[in-house]
Amino acid sequence: MRQKIVAGNWKMNTSIASGLELAQAVKTGLEGKSLNDVKLILAPPFTHLHAIGEVIKDSPLGLAAQNTASEKSGAYTGEVSAEMLASAGVGYVILGHSERRKYYHENDELLVQKLTRVLEAGLTPIFCIGEELEDREKGNHFALVKSQLKNGLFHCSPEDFAKVIIAYEPVWAIGTGLTASPEQAEEMHAFIREELSAAFGAENANACSILYGGSCKASNARELFAQPNVDGGLIGGASLQADEFIRIAESF
Ligand code: 13P
Repeated sequence: MRQKIVAGNWKMNTSIASGLELAQAVKTGLEGKSLNDVKLILAPPFTHLHAIGEVIKDSPLGLAAQNTASEKSGAYTGEVSAEMLASAGVGYVILGHSERRKYYHENDELLVQKLTRVLEAGLTPIFCIGEELEDREKGNHFALVKSQLKNGLFHCSPEDFAKVIIAYEPVWAIGTGLTASPEQAEEMHAFIREELSAAFGAENANACSILYGGSCKASNARELFAQPNVDGGLIGGASLQADEFIRIAESF
């Protein structure tokens, strides 16, 4: 069976103090709960990672970074390498989030380099893809998602691909309150899995967790997660409240 995952992308929110409080509240809120084998992951800002890693290290929570450098080490002022993240206790790295693609001009080529660094460091990539509203209105959404998969992931060996988590986040649903309908999400997730199957074989494709992201909250998570190809969520705004985040994870 595929791993079910609910990951909270905190984006550029919280101070170290309030982030620690949030992580602690999620940890405490999970105590005594059985979450049907759902893996919960927190993705706080870089500055918080080590301290939050210490707080959650004896818990089932995973720790993710929201980005990493495309280079291994050296004179790259302001960058944070995948090895540094590993040394800070991080297990996962979000790559190719639409906010990185859009505001920081991250393209497929750069993301391939970042993916390589993440895998070399023994970390698990959470690779984000998804179309803009304009792509969907023009009927280009499948082609766009296919090109993001092809250019970002299809160079991987099957062994490397087996480590990848995918997050489908339609850009028009992020932070807008406009969630994709369960049918829209399932249609795209099934398409992604078919493409993965063509590239890596059915067994590898069936083992890959594909998360949905975009205005996912406790009130709509159940329907989304009930779809056969939706294996969980990458949660933005709703992950900033511990009880809401836990309720989302309880939606399976
Ligand atoms: P929201 O849940 O705030 O729409 O953000 C989704 C997202 O971008 C998660 O990476």
